[in-house]
Amino acid sequence: MSKQIAVFDSGVGGISTLKEMEKLMPAEDFVYYADNLNAPYGVRSHDEIRLLALRSMDKIAAANPKAIVVACNTVTEVCIGDIRRAYPDVPVFGLQPAVKPAPKRTLVLVTEATASSAAFREFVARHDGAYVFPLAEAAGMIERGESDGKLTEYLAERFSGINKAEFSSAVLGCTHYVLKKRCFAAALGLPLYDGNAGLAKHVAGALAVKNLLARGRQKGGVRINLSDCSTSEFAKYAAFCGGCAP
Ligand code: DGL
Repeated sequence: MSKQIAVFDSGVGGISTLKEMEKLMPAEDFVYYADNLNAPYGVRSHDEIRLLALRSMDKIAAANPKAIVVACNTVTEVCIGDIRRAYPDVPVFGLQPAVKPAPKRTLVLVTEATASSAAFREFVARHDGAYVFPLAEAAGMIERGESDGKLTEYLAERFSGINKAEFSSAVLGCTHYVLKKRCFAAALGLPLYDGNAGLAKHVAGALAVKNLLARGRQKGGVRINLSDCSTSEFAKYAAFCGGCAP
């Protein structure tokens, strides 16, 4: 069997990234890893996130993937450097909030851990007209499968203090948010941007240059690997994936 592309997130959010990669690289086999036992990461300390992410990476790297895609803005901002140093022989790609393509002024919606990371703060400082807006509860609500109504209500309440007319766009800087784009659109009424398609393009290009892209017409498969693989969790992930094998 040819090598797989490993896609990692704390939870369900990275499935939105996986979908974009499947579109661009249909012949690839993917394995989706989520540390759902410990999700959400965004409310944890940076030390905890680093420890948990590196622990998951050990498991991921042991399966010898052709590439690792960190489909989690939080892990990218907190510790992508540590991951790359730990696995120098595997290409590691990380997702960052899509601040560049978003028209200014833009609201950058992220987890608390992303908002407080030094790497992210430096990144945002290089982009005029980007305003960071942390959402403490959103990723957890999405991971738990709260209804669209409840999530929209939470978002509307969080955004009630801002003058939306001052902004031209918003960036969904957490992959969980992308899965519930409709709720963010309803609560905010601004054009929304995310980094999934850009990352998928970057990964496909980099693998093509290294001659690592799977060829052929046969559609590749997706497997799911969870740190909490109870039946209900697996069913939730399979539903988001649109049917995957364990
Ligand atoms: N989906 C992740 C991100 O892109 C992490 C969310 C979380 O675990 O808090 O930031």
